[in-house]
Amino acid sequence: MRLDALVVSLRDGEVARRRLIELDLLHRGVKVKRDEKHLYLPLRSLPQDSSSLPDHRIESIEFEEVSRVESVKEILGYAPSFDVIGDIAILGASSEDPLAEADAILRSHKHIRAIFQARTPIRGEFRTRGLTHLRGEKRTTTTYREHGLSYRLDVSEVYFTPRLGTERERVAERIKSGVVLDIFAGIGPFSILIGKRHPEVKVIAVEKNRSAVRYLKENIRANNIENVHPVLGDSMMLPATGDSADNVIMNLPHDAEKFLGEALRVIRSGGIIYYYDITPEDNLYQESIEAIQEAAVDAGFRVEVLRERVVRSYSPRHYNTCIEARVHKT
Ligand SMILES: C[S@@+](CC[C@H](N)C(=O)[O-])C[C@H]1O[C@@H](n2cnc3c(N)ncnc32)[C@H](O)[C@@H]1O
Repeated sequence: MRLDALVVSLRDGEVARRRLIELDLLHRGVKVKRDEKHLYLPLRSLPQDSSSLPDHRIESIEFEEVSRVESVKEILGYAPSFDVIGDIAILGASSEDPLAEADAILRSHKHIRAIFQARTPIRGEFRTRGLTHLRGEKRTTTTYREHGLSYRLDVSEVYFTPRLGTERERVAERIKSGVVLDIFAGIGPFSILIGKRHPEVKVIAVEKNRSAVRYLKENIRANNIENVHPVLGDSMMLPATGDSADNVIMNLPHDAEKFLGEALRVIRSGGIIYYYDITPEDNLYQESIEAIQEAAVDAGFRVEVLRERVVRSYSPRHYNTCIEARVHKT
């Protein structure tokens, strides 16, 4: 089968593969090709914005189709949307035939042990979703592995998405020293990766969901991390004095804006904010930048935008974006 391929060096292969999965661009029906120097990743369609991909070129290549266990799409004749977290699969709320889809997932994904359907979208302050059990074990706790670390969590009680793996890697590459405030820490995937990579960094991980903090603590212990300090609390009142944070991670798309004043209260001049949002494709960054600028003026800072990027696709016309902004006291 002839397809467009993203051609990257072998060294960048894993990063590029993950990134294509997050952008929903990797073609799954054929075998990835490689030679001594390059990996050839088959594309479903061409990337709209290729700035977040490693150095690459596009080439049209003949790929071999995969013969393997039937895919869910082959079994059902259509591809239902579902998330996989550890050994649990979660079907979307609008699933057409949940039980048939659950059976197909169990047949095609040998490591899946439990299947649920979301009754609601991710919602509420704690960003959780109601789940109905469909097939397999009746358990909502699982272990997810990412970047050599393991995370315990309960998919019914806390927020977690595997689709931020590349973003966490990227942020952990940037933050190498100082004090980090991860103010919507969840079960700790940003905090723990940064803490593990950079033992000299001090991370304060704040989270309001009591259950998430219980897993955050368990994950800090299980990964032998000593420089991440979990705090059960509301990030409207951060447990830090003014001028103390070098970096503030604000991973609460839709609502982070309300917390900018408090983030600016604790950040030092020259510190960096990582601001996450969900934005429409025709206006990816401007509104987020304006929100940061408005709050900064009120707090006596000026803003220097360092980077803006699409983190992953969110819905057909919306993207999860990140603005990295340095703030300077005026
Ligand atoms: C989108 S999730 C991100 C979690 C984590 N950073 C991750 O990548 O998995 C946002 C988190 O913020 C928490 N949260 C919401 N409001 C909060 C508040 N006022 N103070 C502290 N945490 C809050 C939620 O419970 C949730 O765990």
